[in-house]
Amino acid sequence: MRDKINALLAEVEQFPVGNKEQLEAFRIRFLGTKSILKDLFSGLKDVAPEDKKAVGGLINDLKNRAQEKFDAFNQQGETTESEVSGMDFTRPGEGKKIGSIHPISLLTNKFTEIFKRLGFVVADGPEIEDDWHNFTALNTPEEHPARDMQDTFFIQQNPNILLRTQTSSGQVHYMENKKPPIRVISPGRVYRNEAISARAHCFFHQIEGLYVDEKVSFADLKQTLDFFAKEMYGEKTKIRLRPSFFPFTEPSAEMDVSCSICNGDGCNICKHSGWVEIGGCGMVDPNVLSNCGIDPEKYSGFAFGFGIERMTMMKYQVKDLRLFSENDVRFLEQFKSEI
Ligand code: DAH
Repeated sequence: MRDKINALLAEVEQFPVGNKEQLEAFRIRFLGTKSILKDLFSGLKDVAPEDKKAVGGLINDLKNRAQEKFDAFNQQGETTESEVSGMDFTRPGEGKKIGSIHPISLLTNKFTEIFKRLGFVVADGPEIEDDWHNFTALNTPEEHPARDMQDTFFIQQNPNILLRTQTSSGQVHYMENKKPPIRVISPGRVYRNEAISARAHCFFHQIEGLYVDEKVSFADLKQTLDFFAKEMYGEKTKIRLRPSFFPFTEPSAEMDVSCSICNGDGCNICKHSGWVEIGGCGMVDPNVLSNCGIDPEKYSGFAFGFGIERMTMMKYQVKDLRLFSENDVRFLEQFKSEI
């Protein structure tokens, strides 16, 4: 009996368990319900009574050893299987790169947050527009010379449908659908057939603002823009409104912000003038109000439209507007900390 146990112990040690099938064969032989060990235990009854305890102990040791070996290889087997499937779960993970918010979105979010505090809501309009919303309703009828300034992309064969050249079209949509008081900003992408350079692109982004109520004045406009500039670029920021012309506002102005890079001393971003132009503004022309079904005798309003790229370039000292649309991660990664 002892010899048999010793022989089986040797067999347990040598039994190959390198794969699933071998391990299963091992289990059946030594641990299953019809295993060889079962036979050994039932053979115990024939062992001399004084030997029974010792032999029983040996069979138990054999059983424990078989179980140990099975357990060890059973666990390993899982790894082996995963290796076969081409995956090694024991390898340290490769870190996933975390993306960042695009600087244009960062600035838009900040802008929105500032105007929300003043009670403005956000609304967007379509990028594919009709002539009425992009031009005619905005007091820019056909043959108006101001149309030439905006090199429009028309949809072929239909001169009535175009890619919007300005977010001002959003004003028209909003006023057609809502009654005063209106306080809305409308950010979005616009398109113009312009040569691409460090300062211009065939698509870019604007943010439009519109406030219509009783007795809205130019002083309200100035105050709002001054508040915005200080919130966006810092306490010391100044604004400058230069008389200008837009068909949809009267009077109209061009808005400059003191350069936050050089604090007005002169640098590349402000072309050594100390000021950066960020867009236009003015009092909504009464014709625009009545085109949109709002009584100009009762209501007045101000509007503005700013270039988001311009504002972003100054905020983050970006010198070339093309960087915004190239999707170079080395550029985009620099804005991680701004989130
Ligand atoms: N839409 C004008 C442009 O693209 C910018 C603008 C000027 C918008 C004056 C306005 C405004 O709302 O009042 O050049």
